Amino acid sequence: MQRLGFVAHELRNALHTAAISFQAIRSGRIPVQGTTGDVVERSHLRLRAMVDGLLTQVRLGAALRGRQERLSIASLVQESIAFATADAAEKKIQLLTEVDPSLQVEGDRNLLVSALTNLLQNAVKFTGRGGSVDIRSTRNGDGRVLVEIEDGCGGLPAGAAERMFGPFVQVGNDRSGLGLGLTIAQQVVDAHGGTIQVRDLPGRGCVFTVAIPAVQAAEDLAG
Ligand SMILES: Nc1ncnc2c1ncn2[C@@H]1O[C@H](COP(=O)(O)OP(=O)(O)O)[C@@H](O)[C@H]1O
Ligand SMILES: [Mg+2]
Repeated sequence: MQRLGFVAHELRNALHTAAISFQAIRSGRIPVQGTTGDVVERSHLRLRAMVDGLLTQVRLGAALRGRQERLSIASLVQESIAFATADAAEKKIQLLTEVDPSLQVEGDRNLLVSALTNLLQNAVKFTGRGGSVDIRSTRNGDGRVLVEIEDGCGGLPAGAAERMFGPFVQVGNDRSGLGLGLTIAQQVVDAHGGTIQVRDLPGRGCVFTVAIPAVQAAEDLAG
């Protein structure tokens, strides 16, 4: 309930900012192309991100009651990349993928895409211009699918790895988001019996690793 209050407060702030900026533009004295127009646009993007986050939370509640299908990791990764491509292109960041096409998991497609998209969007957001983001997927020894997302954020601040999954926690200089993406991603992965971890690559970047129980592909079972 406390969190709901926090989100409502943030939604109202963003709406308020958009509304007063729009009124200023409407008065005719301020051009829509200038910084006030940028504020309106950013407020709307923020509103959209918050509403998307809320929808994921709602879906999460429904998924816990069980809507499961067999999903190929390659297709989940591909769909998530589609949501990060525009931002990556804008920053001239290369997205490099190395995904074993036979890997499958069981779960809710929308939720898993939302979790991976949050991780990928973060990787692009915190990587410097002209850098690269690697997306790798393999099966590990204990029957889990690993999806690793490595970025060029320059390394994490001390103690950040332990804190960054908390709601509304932001550990870097870029505070343009809300601090909910990792919390949502963790809840989604948790609901699928998996884990998310982050490893610092000092001075270079960091690697997020999602581990989810694998399901055996039908052809593997037949063979
Ligand atoms: N890939 C990443 N590289 C570096 N820092 C990250 C990365 N992902 C998340 N972070 C840090 O964790 C914080 C929380 O992430 P998140 O919950 O997605 O919130 P948001 O992206 O809205 O700030 C970010 O603000 C940033 O400080
Ligand atoms: Mg984020």
